[in-house]
Amino acid sequence: MRAGTAERSRLAVTRLQLTNFRSYAAGALCVSGTSVVLAGPNGAGKTNVLDAISLLSPGRGLRGAKLAEHTRKGPSLVGGSTSEETLWAVAATVARGGTEYEIGTGLTQASASRQVRLNGVAAQSSADLGDIVQLIWLTPAMDRLFIESAGGRRRFLDRLVLGFDSSHARTTTRYETAMRERARLLKFGPRDPAWLDGLENEMAEAGLLIAQARSLTVERLSQALAERGGAGAFPAASLGLSDDLHLWDAGKLRGALAASRLRDAEAGRTLVGPHTTDLHVRHTLKRADARDCSTGEQKALLISIMLADARELSRAREGLAPILLLDEIAAHLDAVRRAALFEEIDSLAAQAWMTGTDLSLFDTAKAEILEVRDGVFYPQAPNVSTR
Ligand SMILES: Nc1ncnc2c1ncn2[C@@H]1O[C@H](COP(=O)(O)OP(=O)(O)O)[C@@H](O)[C@H]1O
Ligand SMILES: [Mg+2]
Repeated sequence: MRAGTAERSRLAVTRLQLTNFRSYAAGALCVSGTSVVLAGPNGAGKTNVLDAISLLSPGRGLRGAKLAEHTRKGPSLVGGSTSEETLWAVAATVARGGTEYEIGTGLTQASASRQVRLNGVAAQSSADLGDIVQLIWLTPAMDRLFIESAGGRRRFLDRLVLGFDSSHARTTTRYETAMRERARLLKFGPRDPAWLDGLENEMAEAGLLIAQARSLTVERLSQALAERGGAGAFPAASLGLSDDLHLWDAGKLRGALAASRLRDAEAGRTLVGPHTTDLHVRHTLKRADARDCSTGEQKALLISIMLADARELSRAREGLAPILLLDEIAAHLDAVRRAALFEEIDSLAAQAWMTGTDLSLFDTAKAEILEVRDGVFYPQAPNVSTR
């Protein structure tokens, strides 16, 4: 490893090992901690690597896939017939400031949730990873973020929140667990008022924390975006929430839930609460909703938000910028914006993992280049010195 002083203040993945993970029977790579370009033809397994890295943070990862979908289809390398049999595993070394963490996650046959190990010790849930790894991703699937349903925007927002507030993952789980339980009671009974009261109380408390955390993040990023204005290659944007739940108190939310029982039972879903909140994004200069902007403008807006988030996170965490997973990012940008993005990443000292089929799009990126072929990573001579 070449981790010099410049890499000391980075948050970076320096080692990654994939076992039975999607197209990888056994894949392994080591990098220095600077940014990485994964190059290779379609289907080489580039996005699979980003997906694996995204599982080093709480939640379901960049594809939002079900856990079992990560299991490699085809001959399995991991044998044995114990109930602990591993279906897939991702192991990584993460450098954070001057400290190294060994993170392992995976699925075993014996368990329905994904297992997480931190420095060899079993963690309670993937939520525990939120304190160590902050990361944010942009994928081609997110090109439609502004025109598709609110759920995608909400998940995007929640990832932004998670960077600032690692308890957000646990609060969200708390809220969703209570909401599911309440929906089950409303559907199948018994509609025991005391039981429903208890669940609505839980939902109101957790729900309010969720709404407040989102509002703080939206304000913080809006301010950061406004301060920067239209300077730089990416457009100014403003963010807003579709409701004012963050201004409610728990009693009001509890009351609204109780009043909504019959309607919710009829609708078969919960009609009020932070799980219905949408994120609004506006292109400041054009005075237009993001959804009315061109595909290219929408991508640029997303990058603006991501960079503002990275700068704010870095400011809040002693210069530790989040890890950026940028799938097929260069293909969408003209040369000026490409160069500007690489420069921003470099000045943030963020570790970006970027994928592409065309290496020439990365000539100005300060990054290690790994060519991905048949599940193996081949280091390439860099175009630009990686120091
Ligand atoms: N669970 C799985 N088992 C085996 N192969 C998989 C699994 N999931 C995805 N793949 C394969 O992984 C290959 C590489 O996918 P991907 O990482 O998206 O490629 P790209 O390099 O274009 O980003 C695809 O051919 C896909 O069929
Ligand atoms: Mg891909």
